[in-house]
Amino acid sequence: MRNIVLGLMFGDEGKGKVVDFLTDEKTTVIRFNGGTNAGHTVVTSRGKFKFHLLPSGALRASDIVLGNGMVIDPFALKEELEIYKEENSDLRIMISKAASVVTPVHIYIDKKQEELRGDLKIGTTSKGIGPCYEDKFSRNGIRIGDLLDQPTILNKLKLMTKMRKHLLEGSEFLNEETLKKISMDLNNVGKIIEPLMCNTELFLEKKKSEGNLLFEGGHGALLDIDFGVYPYVTSSNTMSGGAMTGSGFSLRKVNNIIGVTKSYISKVGEGPFPTEISGETADSIREAGGEYGTTTGRPRRIGWLDIPLLKYSIMLNDVDVLAMTMLDVIGKQKSILICESYREDYDSPVQAMIEKKKATPEYIEMASWGEINDSEIDEMILKGYYGLPQEMKDFISKVESLTGKEIGIISLGQRREKTIIREKWKSILK
Ligand code: GDP
Ligand code: IMO
Ligand code: MG
Repeated sequence: MRNIVLGLMFGDEGKGKVVDFLTDEKTTVIRFNGGTNAGHTVVTSRGKFKFHLLPSGALRASDIVLGNGMVIDPFALKEELEIYKEENSDLRIMISKAASVVTPVHIYIDKKQEELRGDLKIGTTSKGIGPCYEDKFSRNGIRIGDLLDQPTILNKLKLMTKMRKHLLEGSEFLNEETLKKISMDLNNVGKIIEPLMCNTELFLEKKKSEGNLLFEGGHGALLDIDFGVYPYVTSSNTMSGGAMTGSGFSLRKVNNIIGVTKSYISKVGEGPFPTEISGETADSIREAGGEYGTTTGRPRRIGWLDIPLLKYSIMLNDVDVLAMTMLDVIGKQKSILICESYREDYDSPVQAMIEKKKATPEYIEMASWGEINDSEIDEMILKGYYGLPQEMKDFISKVESLTGKEIGIISLGQRREKTIIREKWKSILK
């Protein structure tokens, strides 16, 4: 099978958990966008693992690929590689020579730009993502393949700092000695990862007829640079099309697109959020779901599930099947709301948000299934879909009828095994 897993909202939908669940020892998992702004958590019997650059399938995949669409901080990569080598020692890792390199200059500029934006700030993760993509598209960027040549790194660092003199005023990055040191440090990491560098698009072409390919979206679809809630977006294409440009693998060869959504919404960073809630209910969902950023530790904003946004995202990504997470968390609320529509009836809810139009959610209230403890969840997992509480099945059916898509994967906890895959989807997705 050749499948794509994407988040359908503002990030942190549980993509990491779903990717890990769908990965086996015959799977190649591919990241195709973003960098250390991603934070994916996987929980197994061996503990909690946080992924920022490596795809979340790394714990049991045969191969992982860091595609050309990524922006990679080599120092962060070196650290992450050391952690996961111990967990899956047979893992083959391939890094595209065409992926972009995030340098300390980009991280500095990211923070500086946010400062200068003032009230217009985006709330970035400060990982240098935007400035690195700026350099990629202005064709001044350092690529992974360049890391083997220190003079090239230094020349490019000089170019990117010369072009941003005003932003770097007063910083160490206008000092040539600093740039020389950074270029040597980057070159040293380059030498370490040289055996992992390759033309990953050629590897994927060879792999397409053996084993499974699983593409892992780095961020939620509503953070897409083109179709997200601009400017409160990241700097890459997070939608399914990004899997193609970010890896070189054709979308026409992909079998299924799996869209992940929580049973509510969380968001970090600035920007409109029509179903956002505050106060006790938001606090209790945040605590029950551990809703604090994996990358930045920021408390996540919380809101009810938003069907207009979900349908837009399903359309944009051409989603075949949904995976829904956090059903254990939302059940702790006495009543659960779903935003069925907005009073204003927009054809593109995202464009309405960009134009700062009022979006007044019209809610339906669903009966809650109440708190479920660990052993009850284990029993439900054993019985499968039909063992779920009726109220949960009603909630699932409601979302299915409102979106026109089946929920094939149901997640009832952080741990890998707290997951139900519905019969029909077993052979298709695994
Ligand atoms: P990602 O960025 O989409 O991979 O999501 P994150 O890992 O940043 O955030 C999702 C959080 O929810 C992580 O801590 C997961 O371990 C956790 N999680 C995923 N699915 C479930 C679920 O069904 N129930 C609970 N309680 N936690 C979940
Ligand atoms: P995962 O992989 C949640 C958000 C940031 C900010 C905006 C731009 O965990 O789903 P950036 O640093 O990318 O320039 O920030 O995008 N953002 C995320 N929010 N989860 C993520 O990744 C995110 N990646 C970027 O909070 O609002
Ligand atoms: Mg995350």
